[in-house]
Amino acid sequence: MHDTTALARPAAAYTPADNPRFLKLHRRFPTVAYLRRHARRHVPRFAFEYLDGGAGADGGIARNWHALDAIELVPRYGVTTTLPRVDIELFGRYYSAPIGVAPMGGPSLVWPGADQYLAAAAQRARVPYTLGLVAGMTVERAAEIAPDVLWFQLYRCSRNEHAIGFDLARRAEAVGVQVLVLTLDVPVRTTRPREVAVGITSPFRPDLRMLAGILASPGYLGSLWRHGQPRFGNLKPYAADTADVNEVADFVRREMGGAFTWDEVARYRERWKRPLVVKGILHPADAEKCVSLGVDGIVVSNHGGRQIEGLPAPIDVLPAIVAAVGGRATVMLDSGVRSGLDVVRAVALGADAAFAGKAFLWGLGALGPEGPAHVIDLMIDEMKSAVGQLGALRLNDLRSLDIRHKNAFRFEPGKGSK
Ligand SMILES: Cc1cc2nc3c(=O)[nH]c(=O)nc-3n(C[C@H](O)[C@H](O)[C@H](O)COP(=O)(O)O)c2cc1C
Repeated sequence: MHDTTALARPAAAYTPADNPRFLKLHRRFPTVAYLRRHARRHVPRFAFEYLDGGAGADGGIARNWHALDAIELVPRYGVTTTLPRVDIELFGRYYSAPIGVAPMGGPSLVWPGADQYLAAAAQRARVPYTLGLVAGMTVERAAEIAPDVLWFQLYRCSRNEHAIGFDLARRAEAVGVQVLVLTLDVPVRTTRPREVAVGITSPFRPDLRMLAGILASPGYLGSLWRHGQPRFGNLKPYAADTADVNEVADFVRREMGGAFTWDEVARYRERWKRPLVVKGILHPADAEKCVSLGVDGIVVSNHGGRQIEGLPAPIDVLPAIVAAVGGRATVMLDSGVRSGLDVVRAVALGADAAFAGKAFLWGLGALGPEGPAHVIDLMIDEMKSAVGQLGALRLNDLRSLDIRHKNAFRFEPGKGSK
């Protein structure tokens, strides 16, 4: 097991601008938007639609972006002379910056071997990496690649008195995972029109169009050759020994269902002695509930706009949730984060850290193995220059800036009670 005494030391200042490889890639891909454009041409169409498509007509995704873009921060000048620091402490560990990799299922569909590239990039830059339960890589393998930064996400596996879910938590603890994340915001299955239109179905059966797309993407094909078909590594041990990928997928569908209830969160709280995070909170009353159950952190999230349109953007409910939590838990945010400036906006409005999903996959789609590292470097570089440009020396100073947040959500007292 990994030596945890080393983990309490502050991360050395990480400066992407000192890295010649970053500077070279930066000339071709100076923002995440360039990576997205390139990824669209570089991976098979089904892969891009899987990563990029949201619920309905992508209205939730657009709202997440616009809501972040709409936050205005007023700089103060005449103070900063040195490059600001953006390293943080979260749950007793030090990280280079308040940005992490959100949990994702099936990232290997976007680029075969994705999980290990995401994990390695996060470990190298020392930012949190959340392995998704339905990713391809096992938690044991993730702990080898990203021992200092590994978090693990669970969906509800309720059959047999949560035997599988609890066993997964036990396995995570055994390999030194520090933070367990319970996702609450998938109470029902939904479909994404862009996935349906390219033939992504379950069970997953590649059709001729998909095979043609793979053959036309040599980088993707090479990675598929090296890593093989995406698997559900974490759940395979619970399926029949002889199960193939589709049988395991079937098993996953049968095992997983609904989202955790508060009683179930409480049961995990009892068993998991390390930091516990609940992901997918949008209402201050639900944040309160998490705090009352002893949860250590929450992720304010609308699942990146992938589950349903018509939800508020997390950045717009963040201030009300930060106020409700009142410092009793760590508050994080995801959904729509595409730049270091977005992370700075979230921190200025009270978040302790932000996570991104699609941005890392656009990086993978555009650059393959090098993509996730480039996205992390871009975000840290942008964050440092945004903090400095705003006249802050460190992240905490952002909280005292004057901020215009026109669309901040106002909750009516009493409405949150069920
Ligand atoms: C391809 C893909 C798969 C995802 N799978 C999961 C998952 O298995 N579990 C989960 O909690 N969230 C999942 N999410 C949601 C992310 O954790 C995160 O909330 C979201 O991507 C943040 O929004 P962003 O993509 O705009 O950064 C997934 C997101 C994407 C893009």
